[in-house]
Amino acid sequence: MFAGVKHLLIFSVIVMQLHITALAASGKTAQAAVAMPDSYSSDVARAILEQGGNAVDAAIAAQFVLAVTLPEAGNIGGGGFMLIQKDGQGDFIDYRETAPIAAHRDMYLDDKGNVVANKSIYGIHASGVPGSVAGMWLAHQKHGTLDWKTLVEPAVKLAEQGFIVHPKLASSIERYIARMAKKDVTINFADYFASAKANQNFKQPELAATLKRIREQGKAGFYEGETAKIIADFMAEHGGIITQADLKAYQAKSRTPMKAAWNGYQVLTSPPPSSGGIAIIQWLKMYELTKSKAGLEHNSTAYIHLLAEIGKRVFADRAEYLGDPDFFDVPKSELIAMDYLKKRSSIITLDKISTTENIKPGLYESEQTTHFSIVDKWGNAVSNTTTINLGYGSGVVVAGAGFLLNDEMDDFSAKPGVMNVFGALGGKANEIQPHKRMLSSMTPTILLKDNKVKMVTGSPGGTTIISSVYESILNAVEFNMSADEVVNSPRFHHQLWPKNVIRHHPGLDAGVVKALEKMGYTLDERRFGDMHVIIERDGKLDAGSEASGRGKAMVF
Ligand code: GLY
Repeated sequence: MFAGVKHLLIFSVIVMQLHITALAASGKTAQAAVAMPDSYSSDVARAILEQGGNAVDAAIAAQFVLAVTLPEAGNIGGGGFMLIQKDGQGDFIDYRETAPIAAHRDMYLDDKGNVVANKSIYGIHASGVPGSVAGMWLAHQKHGTLDWKTLVEPAVKLAEQGFIVHPKLASSIERYIARMAKKDVTINFADYFASAKANQNFKQPELAATLKRIREQGKAGFYEGETAKIIADFMAEHGGIITQADLKAYQAKSRTPMKAAWNGYQVLTSPPPSSGGIAIIQWLKMYELTKSKAGLEHNSTAYIHLLAEIGKRVFADRAEYLGDPDFFDVPKSELIAMDYLKKRSSIITLDKISTTENIKPGLYESEQTTHFSIVDKWGNAVSNTTTINLGYGSGVVVAGAGFLLNDEMDDFSAKPGVMNVFGALGGKANEIQPHKRMLSSMTPTILLKDNKVKMVTGSPGGTTIISSVYESILNAVEFNMSADEVVNSPRFHHQLWPKNVIRHHPGLDAGVVKALEKMGYTLDERRFGDMHVIIERDGKLDAGSEASGRGKAMVF
């Protein structure tokens, strides 16, 4: 305990010193803000900004820190999306995982053509080729200003010297170990994480060594040489299919963000292979087209019903048309065209639930993950969502390299008509092919007005991410909420299937819940997401992190 507190003090002093030196050197004028999923990533992101780094530098440093201090979702063994607005230009770094070369469409089916339970969710077969290190490397090459080694160093220190385990993390690890003991599908998880105890120092020497190779060699420190060999040998030993050739072939990509005019703003958001950008644009525009029917009372029965009806249509399109744009021609502009959305929303009524089975795709006829938001003093912004899919990913720790592998292969459609772990359906657009990226719901988003950053938003939560993001935008813009109110106000989610089920946070009005049940909805009270949001109003920044998590938001 004493050693842990000492380490925390040393770490805090280092961070404070960085702040002071940086403040003196920078002649800081404007505000900056961070909204992060834990205190370590928050303090490091702030220190990097105060050292003169930009929002992308701070994001890269934070991503590596989260790989150490937030093992349930922070990662080097997973992937994600980084949306950037810098010097007035948008960029989207796609570092989503890819299917290995030996992957094939039916790899999760048995000889009778049925999906083998859990094979894409836990264990050695569940992982895609990780993209996070390549993504940070590409973001740094294109937008970074501070030295790469400076950005990886805070993570190396936290892995090598240890960090104090938050009680919420300790109990989450304990629960995971107990739950997985029954399933017997994880590899090495308890050996690596059982010693992470509440309020005590936790060191990860193998992870520190891996991070040092990344610090010294950049992208090659993960995808080539010793780390690549450790991963490939580990895979071969356990019957997995990721090879050194897979790692060498992995490429992060810079894509053009989706952009749509909405309500006087420009919504800058995630293009495919995210489904989220198209989904939130559809949701916001259909809301705009239909809101006069419902009135505007926040979280009222009519409001929730209207948004659930829109959600049905959004998720029917998602299942049919969305996949990796390098493999499947996604009809992006058709899906967000006003005429299409008018037609699609015109038959929504406020007194009756539409029949789920009748909502078809309209054209031509865990859930973990983590998110952070950063704005620097120059007004640049990063909205970054990163994931190993479910909490602790596949539950597989690469022996000798000390990091968890993702279970992102479950985000592909294993078989048309069969739901994945988030209840999402898919077909041809999202079937498995070598090198292909699996469809994602991650939706890092930035709201602009006159090309200036007004809001940075995003959340974890599988398919519920999409609801968290569009509701955060409505909360901020339509209901003028503060950042704290935006992230803590109860949210709800409906995604076509399961039929007429609305999942919601605690805190909805009891009368509204009753009225929705009377209409025929089933209400499922279960928290989702962990939002970290920054809002700019009248030249002032406001930052908020959801109180149910262990996040920390600061304006400085
Ligand atoms: N793994 C969750 C997502 O990308 O949607």
